Amino acid sequence: MVENMLLKDKVAIVTGAAQGIGKAIAVALAREGANIVIVDINLEGAKATAREIESLGRGALVFEVDVSRADQVNEMVKKVLDSFKRIDILINNAGITRDALIVRMDESDWDKVMEINLKSAFNCSKAVARPMMKQRSGKIINIASVIGLVGNVGQSNYAASKAGIIGLAKSLAKELAPRGINVNAIAPGFIKTEMTERLSQEVRAEMLKRIPLARFGDVEDVARVVLFLVSDAAGYITGQVLNVDGGMIM
Ligand SMILES: NC(=O)c1ccc[n+]([C@@H]2O[C@H](COP(=O)([O-])OP(=O)(O)OC[C@H]3O[C@@H](n4cnc5c(N)ncnc54)[C@H](O)[C@@H]3O)[C@@H](O)[C@H]2O)c1
Repeated sequence: MVENMLLKDKVAIVTGAAQGIGKAIAVALAREGANIVIVDINLEGAKATAREIESLGRGALVFEVDVSRADQVNEMVKKVLDSFKRIDILINNAGITRDALIVRMDESDWDKVMEINLKSAFNCSKAVARPMMKQRSGKIINIASVIGLVGNVGQSNYAASKAGIIGLAKSLAKELAPRGINVNAIAPGFIKTEMTERLSQEVRAEMLKRIPLARFGDVEDVARVVLFLVSDAAGYITGQVLNVDGGMIM
């Protein structure tokens, strides 16, 4: 029933929503009544997510945008405001890995990961900050990683970028709190998506041994926590990092 929905008529931007965790978040928010802006470089995947959202009776806008590019992000946000007149939720989810040991890591691998995982969150947060401040409400969530908290061999660029978006979330939480905007980060552990499918059987088996709940996470495990953080139930939570990792780090 529409009346019981948590996010009726809210407008949510989800980056990297063509697949994986971003897609699950987009669909979960739509199920609770939100209209969704799907931002991704994968246009076909983004359109497929949009079809799923429209079949739920919600509005979906698709933007083929590289979130590391401020000009493209600003243009997208302008069009979203033209269409929906407001932005309630931003989920900074788009992210990539370019793993290598530091001695073998190319400068371009470092730069690319920083641009797509960290600068993107700056671009998108900056673009929505003013409209959210005017509304005196808003929710921003950065999808970080447990790797940003504990580090990992071969992932110095990824870990630094994810630690970066945690610092960004905490700073924005302080900066935007007076305007009624909550900013938090989620740190997923090992979630079953294309990103983790690329790992070898040995690495996966080794990971599983370190997860007390003895299973890998599903995309819905993350999406459900996003739903909680953007809902009124989490109104008094800001500047926090919520680990969604089956107890992998504690
Ligand atoms: N899968 C995991 O175990 C895991 C664990 C911790 C954190 N995360 C984080 O969760 C987020 C989503 O991960 P996933 O596993 O769903 O990954 P995924 O690779 O399945 O999806 C990432 C999405 O981001 C999009 N994207 C990539 N670069 C982009 C750009 N420049 N502009 C716009 N869109 C872009 C891709 O096209 C894709 O649709 C990432 O930030 C990732 O670091 C994932």
